[in-house]
Amino acid sequence: MTASKSGLYRDLAKQLAALLAGETDPIANAANMAALIYHGLPDLNWAGLYFRRGQELVLGPFQGKPACVRIPLGRGVCGTAASRAATVLVPDVHDFPGHIACDPASRSELVVPLLPAFGEVLGVLDLDSPLLARFDEVDREGCEQLVALFVGHHHRYPG
Ligand code: SME
Repeated sequence: MTASKSGLYRDLAKQLAALLAGETDPIANAANMAALIYHGLPDLNWAGLYFRRGQELVLGPFQGKPACVRIPLGRGVCGTAASRAATVLVPDVHDFPGHIACDPASRSELVVPLLPAFGEVLGVLDLDSPLLARFDEVDREGCEQLVALFVGHHHRYPG
């Protein structure tokens, strides 16, 4: 199971690299990345990006139900991952104080910051699942690699 999940992430990384190749627009690439992840990983009800604008995260391209547009740094799972500049894996969102419930169906969540080699957090990748404890360390590592591909590809970000 773990081996096949790693394989799934390797396939997704190849597909993401192919989608990014030759295109420099971060919004267009974020839209394709969100669609790739949403349709490529099982048991998600939301997948998308937020971009940092000053002291807030602002909603970017995503798949899933409409979501909160602005999240202050330090608030919710997304704002916590952005302010810590570290991935946050939440097995049960009901146990995370300050979780922002955009879709009440969400039960677990994985948020990976967009971290450039130098400088501040550019935003986050947010994945939500209707299943409890949907995400594990393989998901964390796989999603961090997808985010590294995305961040490494761009020199400019919206905002
Ligand atoms: N649940 C997130 C908010 C974003 S939505 O899930 C799309 C949070 O607590 O930061």
